[in-house]
Amino acid sequence: MEGTVRYGIVGVGMMGREHIMNLAHLRSHGVSVAAAADPHPPSRRQALDLAASFDWPIQVFSSHHELLDSGICDVVIVSTPNMTHFQILMDIVNHPKPHHILVEKPLCTTVRDCKTIIEEVRKRPEIMVQVGLEYRYMPPVAKLIEVVKSGTLGQVKMVSIREHRFPFLVKVNNWNRFNANSGGTLVEKCCHFFDLMRLFTAADPVRVMASGAIDVNHKDEVYDGKVPDIIDNAYAIVEFENGSRGMLDLCMFAEGSKNEQEISVVGDIGKGEAFVPENIVHVGTRAGGRGGVQIIKTDDKRIKYEGLHHGSSYLEHLNFLAAIRAKGDQAPSVGLQDGLFSVAMGVAAQLSIEKGRFVSIEEVINETI
Ligand SMILES: NC(=O)c1ccc[n+]([C@@H]2O[C@H](COP(=O)([O-])OP(=O)(O)OC[C@H]3O[C@@H](n4cnc5c(N)ncnc54)[C@H](O)[C@@H]3O)[C@@H](O)[C@H]2O)c1
Repeated sequence: MEGTVRYGIVGVGMMGREHIMNLAHLRSHGVSVAAAADPHPPSRRQALDLAASFDWPIQVFSSHHELLDSGICDVVIVSTPNMTHFQILMDIVNHPKPHHILVEKPLCTTVRDCKTIIEEVRKRPEIMVQVGLEYRYMPPVAKLIEVVKSGTLGQVKMVSIREHRFPFLVKVNNWNRFNANSGGTLVEKCCHFFDLMRLFTAADPVRVMASGAIDVNHKDEVYDGKVPDIIDNAYAIVEFENGSRGMLDLCMFAEGSKNEQEISVVGDIGKGEAFVPENIVHVGTRAGGRGGVQIIKTDDKRIKYEGLHHGSSYLEHLNFLAAIRAKGDQAPSVGLQDGLFSVAMGVAAQLSIEKGRFVSIEEVINETI
């Protein structure tokens, strides 16, 4: 793709506008935002104002169909509520004009929908799709991935990810308050962590056991007569094909935490830890003991905009843009298969809570449950 790469943003709520901000900081890389689509007038207005502040005279539409038909975009970012991803992706992939796609996580809210999207995209080899599993790019996480890949820790045996944070934010029309819309907490936000577990263990998951509940948050909220059903805390254990194990510890009423994410990866030689937002990585070996633990301050000089996610969205865009410009010679670093597995693990975890037993990934992928 020669010259300026023109982006269209479908869904310009919090994350859509965050994408506009990131793209504005990438202007010198030859990108522009040409259009936005959103049925919610206040979101459209905010997107227009934001784009105007960067001198981008964007066209705004109330639906993605008009944006696609306008023909003014090369790339579409899907940053709409999770339950809308499937239909919007189907419409983009089946549109006569090819558009590359960056879809926010989760790819879709169900495994069946993820699989259908993968089949449809296969029919359009000229379209490239990247999934927004951007935690991979956070500097301390990226550093830990590099340490693991270097072999310093040996064969990875255990990956433990703790996310202790604030409750879900308020979203447009409160879509994120119900499992039916978000896919459930372990799909909606924990797909990021399941994706990281697959990366660290370099293996696919076999089965998942989880325990979780809605214990503190949203209990006094009512929308159209219904109280939210999204869980606010959980433990999940994942077993991988190569015998390694992952554990997720999620708490969404833990504002009193120094870090939001604490990731520990232990191999048969050593241990690595990443702390976000402290931006620190610890690396030690069994031989070196406590005294030998190295403390590394992480940083990525390429980041020109930290934004809401510690610069990871910026790096995600750099990466996606490089893949676009490589015109098929470079696959996006987070592909559809990664999107599918991260959803499947979340779905298995949600089902495990419901059923009180291990749920295999095969049951979920083959929909035998
Ligand atoms: N990468 C991350 O870490 C991260 C962080 C937050 C949100 N997200 C994801 O980004 C997406 C959007 O979340 P958000 O926080 O911006 O939500 P939001 O509610 O702030 O914004 C969603 C916007 O989409 C619009 N919308 C709804 N249906 C639409 C449709 N059919 N076509 C076009 N626009 C439509 C809404 O009107 C709203 O303006 C979700 O998939 C969410 O999971 C990812």
